[in-house]
Amino acid sequence: MPNSASSVVAIDGPSASGKSTVSRRVAAELDWCYVDSGALYRGLTWKALREGVDTSRPEAVAALIPRLAWEFAEAQRALRFTIDGEDPGPQLRSEPVREAVSDVAAVPEVRAFIVAELRRLTAFGPLVMEGRDIGSVVFPATPLKFYLDADPLERARRRAQELAQAEGHSDVGRVFDSLARRDRKDAGRKTAPLQIPLGAQVINSTALSIEQVVARIVAAVRGAAAPT
Ligand code: DC
Repeated sequence: MPNSASSVVAIDGPSASGKSTVSRRVAAELDWCYVDSGALYRGLTWKALREGVDTSRPEAVAALIPRLAWEFAEAQRALRFTIDGEDPGPQLRSEPVREAVSDVAAVPEVRAFIVAELRRLTAFGPLVMEGRDIGSVVFPATPLKFYLDADPLERARRRAQELAQAEGHSDVGRVFDSLARRDRKDAGRKTAPLQIPLGAQVINSTALSIEQVVARIVAAVRGAAAPT
């Protein structure tokens, strides 16, 4: 199995495609460090909202970046971070952050900053990193690229179930609309739009269990190191 400090499993795909659960489990099976790259975009969005920055103004968001101090650490084989000494924790998943994050993630200065930070994380050893542009932009040279997808209604159902667990209520119709809006923004933005990375193995998880998807990825990673 590839096991150098620079090994990266890149798992990309749209919201609620099952990426997070799958990526966490793949990282646990391989004993590699799990990185949720979306959390960095959400972290910056959280901080911008707290500072009263108008997140619909790209220049205001870009101006915030050099003022912030980020620190990264690994805890239980997952990447954690603080911004100006604070851990945003569950706030990353709050509704205001959820609704503003696509705008923040579309700002070119934000992407340049976060991509550079993500590349530095190989210092923590081999990584399983999930996101939208990991195989296409952040680590295009990794041979371990996967693109997870699922039918839109199935994705809305899965996300609604997560929200119901976290917040006690949810509405599949509203979740469907919100996901569709985010998909359009993520796929339509000029810088690093959501796309299937060149050379990625595409896995449609609509009819697959999490275990089946995890097993497929882990087998591919292990197989990549098998002698030819
Ligand atoms: O995966 P997520 O829902 O936590 O992502 C939050 C937002 O960040 C979403 O709008 C897509 C964006 N994102 C991105 O543009 N690039 C990444 N590598 C990860 C997330």
